[in-house]
Amino acid sequence: MKDYKRYLLTAALPYANGPIHFGHLAGVYIPADIFARYLRLKSEDIIFVCGSDEHGVPITIKARNEGVSPQDVVDKYHRINKESFERLGITFDIYSRTSSPVHYETASEFFRNLYDKGEFIEKTTEQYFDPEAQQFLADRYITGTCPRCGNDSAYGDQCESCGSSLNATDLINPKSMISGSVPVLKETRHWFLPLDKYEPWLKQWILEENKHWKPNVYGQCKSWLDSGLQPRAVSRDLDWGIPVPVEGAEGKVLYVWFDAPIGYISATRELTPDWKKYWKSEDTRLIHFIGKDNIVFHCIVFPAMLKAEGSYILPENVPANEFLNLEGDKLSTSRNWAVWLHEYLDEFPGKQDVLRYVLCANAPETKDNDFTWKDFQARNNNELLAIFGNFVNRTLVLTHKYFGGKVPKASTLTGFDKEVLEQFTKSRLAVEKSLDTFRFREALKEAMDLARLGNKYLADTEPWKVYKTDPERVQTILNISLQLTANLCILFEPFLPDTTAKLRKFINLDKQLWSEAGRTDLLPEGHIINDPELLFERIEDEVIEAQLLKLTSSREAKANSTVGTAPEPAKANVSFDDFGAMDIRVATILSAEKVAKTKKLLKLQVDTGLDIRTVVSGIAEYFEPETLAGQKVCILLNLEPREIKGIQSQGMILLSENKDGRLYFVEPRAEALNGSAVK
Ligand code: 2FM
Ligand code: ZN
Repeated sequence: MKDYKRYLLTAALPYANGPIHFGHLAGVYIPADIFARYLRLKSEDIIFVCGSDEHGVPITIKARNEGVSPQDVVDKYHRINKESFERLGITFDIYSRTSSPVHYETASEFFRNLYDKGEFIEKTTEQYFDPEAQQFLADRYITGTCPRCGNDSAYGDQCESCGSSLNATDLINPKSMISGSVPVLKETRHWFLPLDKYEPWLKQWILEENKHWKPNVYGQCKSWLDSGLQPRAVSRDLDWGIPVPVEGAEGKVLYVWFDAPIGYISATRELTPDWKKYWKSEDTRLIHFIGKDNIVFHCIVFPAMLKAEGSYILPENVPANEFLNLEGDKLSTSRNWAVWLHEYLDEFPGKQDVLRYVLCANAPETKDNDFTWKDFQARNNNELLAIFGNFVNRTLVLTHKYFGGKVPKASTLTGFDKEVLEQFTKSRLAVEKSLDTFRFREALKEAMDLARLGNKYLADTEPWKVYKTDPERVQTILNISLQLTANLCILFEPFLPDTTAKLRKFINLDKQLWSEAGRTDLLPEGHIINDPELLFERIEDEVIEAQLLKLTSSREAKANSTVGTAPEPAKANVSFDDFGAMDIRVATILSAEKVAKTKKLLKLQVDTGLDIRTVVSGIAEYFEPETLAGQKVCILLNLEPREIKGIQSQGMILLSENKDGRLYFVEPRAEALNGSAVK
């Protein structure tokens, strides 16, 4: 690799619409912080920037749902997240936010620059518009029936039931989430970044010049490039975000994924007047730490933006991680299946390093991985406490017991002694090699293996037995164990900063540079060792059981609270004539059968008193088809017939839901006759 003069590390800007959870930490922030600390120990010129991503539609949706302003939402989570990163010991040089004035200026200038250079294409397309709310609708603001599986609460960009990614115009019966009205297509003008124009350059740059990227990152880029790039809109019709800085763009803002990565530049600008040195010099090694869902934006879209602008450097590496699952299930903030950092820090005071350790030891570096509370407990009790803590404690206690807390002199060395001493440098080199290639799990394991060797050394040399017959030998054994302890203090520093700070106090050692690891005389003879305390505490079963219970009960609480308790807002008034236009009748289901290849749909034959007709209804999850014959229902007869899964559905059965979202029929009394009007 080229000889770089300085480093610029970025960690993905988390959205300020919720707290940080373990998935974010294992994927992005813990590895990034380990790397930043490692570089600082090596006295590199490095800055490490991050901040809150405060734009985007989900923030506006959250604000609307909570009845507060988007600014209130981002203020709240910016504060929570900034503070919890600090408490976890994440050493950003700056934690900025994309609502800051310097970011507005930087992002607007960036856009304007590309605009002036004619780098954008302007296109008019048709997009859904809410005629009642008088605004264009982002895909997330539209719901409707999924054309693939019939789920009737699919979003305009995705169906969460079958996982298909959708265009808003694919939805059957689209509905605006803002007013409930039926959206209409309306023309709107937007600016597009012609990614297709950059495709040849991206292919050369990524596929030829960046073969050193992690296989998961390289592979994802390759498949994007292989399937061909299209122009991407960089503006949106929305009232939350950075206004598009050109004439006649009222009501339009920069797309969140256009402004967010520019946030890295703004944060650097806010941090130092020297920011250009980091962003505009080929001597800087720029590294983006991200999760896998951000790969395309950091490897394809942002580099194309930077290339188009022309004066910035490009990332040298993008070491994206895969996802962390939780107790065998996908993390999901909407289902409350997550462990939140700020809650962990409150519930496990002083145990930030345990979390750093577990999430690094188990990081999803090459594939998705699972966090379990049992593994958390086992790694604390069997590794941190039983290996690292136990070795250090035995060494320090014995030094006090036999030598009054002073480092004893080493004399004649055995073969085993020499082997142990030689391992110090080998361990440093092994940790280095892994860190240099972003293999943080392996690096941590190498450091732990040195502690493991220390434990074995004490167990095999048995100083507590030898002391009676050969105290001089014990001097050597403890000298070596103390030097090993001092080496652990350096090697673990990037991973466990709080623990190593404590340990440095115990052994009275100033902070050392990384290059000092390997030395066998860090603690000279006669050096005073302070009274030790325990570095780690045992974590008992009850604590783990309480966490498991909390996790499952918060998921249940969420499931019970999201549906039903918050009724949809009232719709606009309709005239009596409008109501009268709807032909709702009592009817009886004659038969029902499942619609093939769907989970939710039943095909019903219904006697309406006027005719016998077919209706497709999304109730298959709640009723066995064979139990439905004879069921009295209300039916909207004159709903425009439509085809669902190749079946003509004529009308709609009226349903209501309970608190869990389970659907029930709106049931007329038994004596109501088929065909009688509901009015
Ligand atoms: O996925 C996310 O959480 C985004 N907010 C990451 C943005 S990274 C960068 F581009 F700012
Ligand atoms: Zn679907």
